[in-house]
Amino acid sequence: MRSIRAAVFASGTGSNFEAIMREGNLGCDIKLLVCDQPEAQVIEKAAAFSVPTYVAEPKKFASKEAYESSILRRLQEEEITWVFLAGYMRMIGKTLLDSYEGKIINIHPSLLPAFPGIDAIGQAYQAGVKKTGVTVHYVDEGMDTGPIIAQEEVEILPNDTIDSLKTRIQAIEHRLYSRVIKKLVKRDE
Ligand code: GRF
Repeated sequence: MRSIRAAVFASGTGSNFEAIMREGNLGCDIKLLVCDQPEAQVIEKAAAFSVPTYVAEPKKFASKEAYESSILRRLQEEEITWVFLAGYMRMIGKTLLDSYEGKIINIHPSLLPAFPGIDAIGQAYQAGVKKTGVTVHYVDEGMDTGPIIAQEEVEILPNDTIDSLKTRIQAIEHRLYSRVIKKLVKRDE
């Protein structure tokens, strides 16, 4: 049977990308990294796993549609059927959403709908809430607004710093994302 082919979109460090790659039993193959930042650390991580990277810088395209169309062409060439956002710091537009309806998911470090957008860990910490967490959700045209697939709570302890909280949240992200991916792609088999 032919394997399910997936792409990861990332802009930064790539710890989630690495965790996905380290999961031996994902149920799909990561065939492409899409990255909008030519200097991002995640690109080296992809090379270490022999995953090709498509670097596309939005400023080099006339419009968001042109930018996403070029990504779409590459996804289609690679016969990608699932897209996993892992620290991709852009909104997904209509071009990709229409072609990958119900097939783009994202991981976010808060209990959505609380604390969407950037620096969700810092936002929760500053707000003084007792718990925050991790959410995996389908991507729609909004900012971290799509239907929620899975969540896991993380308690904020009295002596937590932003760094200690981030460490615990990331450890959960690294487990949860692979677990959710495995369940979702299984339905395509
Ligand atoms: C993660 O916290 C993820 O939830 C958020 O961006 C961060 C990316 O981290 N969307 P990394 O690049 O995977 O280390």
